[in-house]
Amino acid sequence: MPCGPAKGSPWPSYNFHQGYLENCPVITYTLWVLAYTTNNQTLQVSIMNVITAIETRRSVKHYDPNHRMPEEEVEKIISLAMLSPTAFNIQNWRFVVVRNPDQRRKIRAVAWDQAQVTDASLFVILCADMGSWQKEPERYWHNAPQEVQDFIVPAIDGYYREKPLVQRDEAMRSCGIAAQTLMLAAKGLGYESCPMDGFDFAEVAKLINLPDDHVIAMFVAIGRGTKEAWPRGGQIGKDEAVIIDGF
Ligand SMILES: Cc1cc2nc3c(=O)[nH]c(=O)nc-3n(C[C@H](O)[C@H](O)[C@H](O)COP(=O)(O)O)c2cc1C
Repeated sequence: MPCGPAKGSPWPSYNFHQGYLENCPVITYTLWVLAYTTNNQTLQVSIMNVITAIETRRSVKHYDPNHRMPEEEVEKIISLAMLSPTAFNIQNWRFVVVRNPDQRRKIRAVAWDQAQVTDASLFVILCADMGSWQKEPERYWHNAPQEVQDFIVPAIDGYYREKPLVQRDEAMRSCGIAAQTLMLAAKGLGYESCPMDGFDFAEVAKLINLPDDHVIAMFVAIGRGTKEAWPRGGQIGKDEAVIIDGF
């Protein structure tokens, strides 16, 4: 049974056809039945509690290469990632969705032969446009009151102009947040994922014709996992990771 948003649903969350509960792996997680809706064919559920998604997301390396992700799920995952926050709302992330199997094989060859590249159902190269701050920045704020636009649009310019390091840092911040959003969205739909930076950045840039003012941040592979992740490698303690009021 397909998992996906019901067309024309007035509800903010998903409707699933009956049969979903038996067929989709997300059943193993917390499902909150919210309402029994419109007719006998749909059951509305909230798909996964966000804390469960965070706790159960792992970097999975093995995927079913024959699984095809329904287009509406691809759309949903990318749309959710595009809600990730960016500084000044410049939305500098770019999601290169690699569908062509031949292109996937070429990328795998410059990515330490990692199988996720070819076997994932959805394979995204997270890039950023380092020049997005100067590409019609008014559009990032066109819904805001005029006085807000008058203040913020020039502020964007002042923050990034002639500051290549700031532009690049911003690219990495935005892509990092978007990557996690992709992975949690995938988890919420019952998929596994793997963030990746084990590849030759320059070679991948050539393969995808990366524009000069763009940068590659990482890959995110998403698919139907076939092998569990290893047990967690070893977590550092809060005494090391958490610093109160400064170092
Ligand atoms: C930026 C980044 C790059 C990574 N690159 C790879 C990679 O190329 N291949 C891989 O198998 N895992 C990669 N990982 C996965 C990490 O090994 C994994 O996140 C880490 O061991 C923690 O495990 P967990 O994600 O299952 O909690 C990467 C993770 C991050 C955040």
